[in-house]
Amino acid sequence: MKKAMLALTALALLATSAQARTWDEIKKSGTIKIATEGAFPPFNVLEGKKLTGFEVDLAEALAKELGLKVDWTTQPFDNLLIGLNQDRYDFVIASHGITPQRAKAVDFSNPHYCTGGAIVAKPSGPMMAADLAGKSVAVQVGTTYLENVRKVPGVGDIKTFPKDTDAQAALMSGRVDAWVGDKFTGIDLVKAQKGKVKQGALLFKESIAMAVKKGNSSLLKELNSALDKSQNNGTYAKISNGYFGEDIRCR
Ligand code: ARG
Repeated sequence: MKKAMLALTALALLATSAQARTWDEIKKSGTIKIATEGAFPPFNVLEGKKLTGFEVDLAEALAKELGLKVDWTTQPFDNLLIGLNQDRYDFVIASHGITPQRAKAVDFSNPHYCTGGAIVAKPSGPMMAADLAGKSVAVQVGTTYLENVRKVPGVGDIKTFPKDTDAQAALMSGRVDAWVGDKFTGIDLVKAQKGKVKQGALLFKESIAMAVKKGNSSLLKELNSALDKSQNNGTYAKISNGYFGEDIRCR
């Protein structure tokens, strides 16, 4: 916890130094630089050299709406907001939940979907928060899953992994009793594993948003209006239905 606080304080300090590209500068260049992780299916996935996923398709649609080409960067999840504050790209779309701590370091767009963190375990394993007492849990590092699992009274060993897919693998190989991750990712995991694991309770809910460098209000305004449009003209619903069979916007 202390370490995460320090990292975010450092981020908040960095945020005040260099200059992010304003909307006018981005527009003039014709290309928007976007960063994601590329290891968080079905939201952002790097398959060979090709980025896919709900957030990748959505960001491409927003860029198209804004009349821009896209220059993608992939970074480990934990580095994404740091790179943003070093002006290495214009915005981040990587399933970041809006939290008070992160909001000190970056500015968030309106949410692009709503979800929650859910428990997944073997059918005989822990399914409710209370069942996690004394149990080992795998989570991706730097995430709201970690933050929230830590709050579970009596929770056993918490094992962190650089990638969410590695945390899932730890559950499948029996190295931990449970994995806590995104609700929709969990649904996919259960399907892919054909019932070898089961989804339990939702531990917490969260709103997911894109992040721009703190103070980049001109870019934020354009992103919000492009997101709005996509949600009103059917583009968003189409992409969401394609990945989830439902519209996952916040309501
Ligand atoms: N929603 C969670 C959070 O806000 C997890 C995000 C993980 N994203 C990723 N690209 N691996 O921390």
